[in-house]
Amino acid sequence: GSTTSGTQQTRIVAGTAPGFQPFEMIQDGELVGFDIDLLEAVVEQADGYTLQGWEQYEFGSLIQALTTDKIDTIAAGMTITEKRKESIGFTNPYWDANQALLVREGSSFQPQSLEDLAGHKVGAQSGTTGEGLIQDLIDEGTLAESNYNAYPKYPLAVSDLENGNIDAVVIDTPVAETFVDSRDVVVSATVDTGEQYGFGVRQNDGDLESALNGGLEAVRDNGTYADLTKKWFAS
Ligand code: ARG
Repeated sequence: GSTTSGTQQTRIVAGTAPGFQPFEMIQDGELVGFDIDLLEAVVEQADGYTLQGWEQYEFGSLIQALTTDKIDTIAAGMTITEKRKESIGFTNPYWDANQALLVREGSSFQPQSLEDLAGHKVGAQSGTTGEGLIQDLIDEGTLAESNYNAYPKYPLAVSDLENGNIDAVVIDTPVAETFVDSRDVVVSATVDTGEQYGFGVRQNDGDLESALNGGLEAVRDNGTYADLTKKWFAS
């Protein structure tokens, strides 16, 4: 949890879930990525706060880590959803995304919609909005529950896709693109979900939320946001 030092700077701990390139990943043993750089730049511009460090969690455990004060903010490509807003708050959006259907390169299975996944083995990361779409298919009887494999991290789902253990992965579009570049997979279609990523904060931490929103505005104005976009998304 946060602690206040003598200089009236509140030190905060950020939580993330690496394996979501280029937003957060481990490279040469180090935690790096767009979210890492962006949050660090934002906190630097956020009045009254300094970043003490990062803690890594599985994506599906981040909200509980936040609400139980293990961390003070989430920077994990987390989509702002009504459901999540029942338990946590979010800053203003900092990135837009949709969902992609990822299949093996050269595969004859080329789903054009979520419904096309019926009868096939599908994977996603636990606790994500991609999993939510698959859960909807299961709930409406389009997909058998036994045809869904949940993974702790997306790279494991992509490996299972390459191996032929599953036939499709539902995953955020910007992250799908990095797997297309680095693995034997392609995007067969995108699903227009209109998601927006925000930094998560506790609902009773309006001070931090405002400070981070101020920091976000400052890094957009001073060019850092554009620089980081170029650094992590230039192809
Ligand atoms: N945007 C999606 C969601 O909010 C996926 C985020 C996954 N993030 C990660 N660091 N693994 O559910």
